[in-house]
Amino acid sequence: MTVSLVWAQDLAGAIGKANTIPWRVPEDMARFKELTGTGAVVMGRKTWESLPPKFRPLPGRRNVVVTRNAGFEAPGAETVGGLSEALDLTGGVASVMGGGEIYTAAMEFATQLRVTEIDVLVEGADAFAPEIDADVWTLADRGDWETSRTGTRYRFVDYRRAAR
Ligand SMILES: NC(=O)c1ccc[n+]([C@@H]2O[C@H](COP(=O)([O-])OP(=O)(O)OC[C@H]3O[C@@H](n4cnc5c(N)ncnc54)[C@H](OP(=O)(O)O)[C@@H]3O)[C@@H](O)[C@H]2O)c1
Repeated sequence: MTVSLVWAQDLAGAIGKANTIPWRVPEDMARFKELTGTGAVVMGRKTWESLPPKFRPLPGRRNVVVTRNAGFEAPGAETVGGLSEALDLTGGVASVMGGGEIYTAAMEFATQLRVTEIDVLVEGADAFAPEIDADVWTLADRGDWETSRTGTRYRFVDYRRAAR
């Protein structure tokens, strides 16, 4: 299995506020596009709904939406009732792209974490990254801080599952 969890978080682990991402770092969006390539992306129903209609489904990738609502319609995407079903559908190769609930549910299946740290502290955040347990995850790479063209600092930090 190659299951990558791909997220951006603030310095305290916040990933969202009021069903949006509370910063603008186009370089992170570009990296997301590069990492997800032409593969499958798995997301929660709320993250699907957070995408502007003209940007969904994400082009060139198989879009899989996880929901407990069997009647939910996501035109251009496939809907499934859980994470293991999503991974069955994608042959165990997928990028999980949020949000908070789905990252937490996907941690047990994840083989790598591709995190962007954003040098901000968001007030009033309501979605959070999962905990990265140091007994389970090894730091694979920590990039230098860079400055976005929007002025916000960010860096890329990757983890891989420690050998068991
Ligand atoms: N910074 C980032 O990298 C990043 C990335 C993505 C999203 N976000 C942000 O994250 C926030 C959304 O995250 P969220 O935690 O509120 O919602 P979410 O994880 O996107 O979606 C939650 C929904 O997924 C379904 N779900 C969750 N766990 C499930 C399970 N085990 N089995 C079946 N279905 C399940 C449920 O849908 P139903 O209610 O339909 O059953 C649930 O309401 C937004 O603010 C978004 O902008 C940030």
